Amino acid sequence: MTWFTPLFLGAAALPFASALPSNTPRDIGAYANVNPKRQNDVPNRAARAQAVVDTFKLSWEGYYTYAFPNDELKPVTNGVSNSRNKWGASAVDALSTALIMNEKTIVNQIISYIPSIDWSVPLDEVSLFETTIRYLGGMISGYDFLTGPLAHLADDRENVDALLAQSINLANNLSYAYETPSGVPWNNLNFATRGNDGKANGLATVGTLILEWTRLADLSGNYTYADLVEKAESYLLEPSPPSSEPFPGLLGMRINTTTGEFLDARGGWIGGADSFYEYLIKMWIYNPERYATLKDRWIVAADSTIKYLTSHPQTRPDLTFLAAFNGTTLDLSSQHLACFDGGNFILAGQVLSSQRYIDFGLTLVDGCHDTYTQTATGIGPESFSWDPARVPANQTAFFNRTGFYITSSDYVLRPEVIESYYYAYRATSDPKYQDWAWDAFVAINATTRVGSGYSSINDVNAAGGGGFQDFQESFWFAEVLKYSYLIQGPEAEWQVGKDGKNSWVFNTEAHPFKVLGTEKRSQ
Ligand SMILES: *[C@@H]1O[C@H](CO)[C@@H](O)[C@H](O)[C@H]1NC(C)=O
Ligand SMILES: *[C@@H]1O[C@H](CO)[C@@H](O)[C@H](O)[C@H]1NC(C)=O
Ligand SMILES: *[C@@H]1O[C@H](CO)[C@@H](O)[C@H](O)[C@H]1NC(C)=O
Ligand SMILES: *[C@@H]1O[C@H](CO)[C@@H](O)[C@H](O)[C@H]1NC(C)=O
Ligand SMILES: *[C@@H]1O[C@H](CO)[C@@H](O)[C@H](O)[C@H]1NC(C)=O
Ligand SMILES: *[C@@H]1O[C@H](CO)[C@@H](O)[C@H](O)[C@H]1NC(C)=O
Ligand SMILES: *[C@@H]1O[C@H](CO)[C@@H](O)[C@H](O)[C@H]1NC(C)=O
Repeated sequence: MTWFTPLFLGAAALPFASALPSNTPRDIGAYANVNPKRQNDVPNRAARAQAVVDTFKLSWEGYYTYAFPNDELKPVTNGVSNSRNKWGASAVDALSTALIMNEKTIVNQIISYIPSIDWSVPLDEVSLFETTIRYLGGMISGYDFLTGPLAHLADDRENVDALLAQSINLANNLSYAYETPSGVPWNNLNFATRGNDGKANGLATVGTLILEWTRLADLSGNYTYADLVEKAESYLLEPSPPSSEPFPGLLGMRINTTTGEFLDARGGWIGGADSFYEYLIKMWIYNPERYATLKDRWIVAADSTIKYLTSHPQTRPDLTFLAAFNGTTLDLSSQHLACFDGGNFILAGQVLSSQRYIDFGLTLVDGCHDTYTQTATGIGPESFSWDPARVPANQTAFFNRTGFYITSSDYVLRPEVIESYYYAYRATSDPKYQDWAWDAFVAINATTRVGSGYSSINDVNAAGGGGFQDFQESFWFAEVLKYSYLIQGPEAEWQVGKDGKNSWVFNTEAHPFKVLGTEKRSQ
């Protein structure tokens, strides 16, 4: 065998860059209808959408009965979990999905609870990032819908006003995080002591605050919220030292909160970096006048990604994955988390009128689709690699067939693959992506359904999923069920535009925010 070793070569010798980029759209149609695991083929979009709604209601019922207002349900044992400070994470995360599904009873169960949350008393250390994307994002989205097109779903106006008041309360409790010498916030906060863990912060955790805090500034008129996140973001837009940007626009992941300097040059479109890139283009959609610089940085990062990170597995050169990097050395591995990348390229391609970005995004969607269709359950793994030099002996046959091998086999109810199908469908109107989303939904339902809800599983490549972890993440409600519904569901103003025009933009937890309208900032 003549496996070549792509790792540990410098940028000058990037073996994959030379063969690429391949911007010619491949015949993705060849992949349609080959899934032998399709168990429940329902061609009728409305019936599919209703099945997703039924799943949402069943999941809510289990959570509401056994766990509310704790953060999460443990569905196998009907127990509770509080991984998000015991403020009711699943309830707040479920709100925008209940709204778009028109589930009035659930909407009012959630919004009549939110005014009672005391943000000043967290169960333990508070993550600025997780609290921002789930709680702040969920409440802001609820406020946008209930003061806008879904106002009729609220029984009591006071509960709607409380969504904004509680968003302000939460942000004010969190805002000491930005009181660092640099203005790059701490992530892990101890409210009782107004302390922090003293650690470096991350690219994603710093770079995934700007949409939520800016929207809150525009809704509340308190522009301090926007000033804080814009200051933090400024270090990400002009990274220092230069070595932390090994490819133009592609950055390291650890940032010193004292100096704002980057501490490494490792990254990719992976967990820890991912939604920094996602928000560069989404901020421009939110407010194109103020955030053109972020859009320009997205383009620089995207062009580098196509040029340097595009990778085709040796045993399946028809597939496209994105490599990670450490400096200019590529790491041929990726994650379920990273599978949002196709959707983000497609969204950007639509709003920038760039068929090149759309086509590239569709090839990434194709690759992630294969991580689902090739496993025993029809669900993709948490992480995978395609470095031919490191294939575990017992996965050689799998690697030969699929182009990748599994490095972490669990599935924790993540949304990113279905999320990217959603963007692919909105851009192309090709029903194939609705079929793929339905296949994924049916597989997830078949494998993770247990007890009073849905659970993380151990092994996507074992029939039945290899055992339950007895944990139901709040993003099951916020993301998996929302994207599974929207891709089959009726047209609505909050659906991603088919023409590149968007009235709403989704935060990284899939909470839709109204794009900036008449409430424009004057300064
Ligand atoms: C923190 O939130 C609570 C409501 O949960 C509010 O009463 C309090 O004023 C907030 N603290 C700050 C510093 O704004
Ligand atoms: C605006 O927000 C900041 C940051 O949380 C807070 O310190 C300040 O009191 C707020 N201003 C007003 C007028 O509420
Ligand atoms: C951040 O920079 C400060 C000042 O140079 C230094 O004292 C500190 O050790 C650095 N922190 C980390 C995590 O590197
Ligand atoms: C990344 O590269 C740096 C510098 O070459 C090295 O010190 C570090 O160990 C590498 N990190 C990983 C995770 O490989
Ligand atoms: C492959 O081998 C590893 C390491 O020995 C083991 O942990 C894993 O369970 C094996 N996987 C399969 C599918 O047999
Ligand atoms: C995988 O492919 C290689 C190269 O074609 C071949 O030598 C090897 O026998 C295959 N292994 C398995 C288990 O199929
Ligand atoms: C979901 O799973 C349940 C129980 O396993 C089954 O009864 C139902 O038909 C499934 N729904 C879909 C849409 O596959």
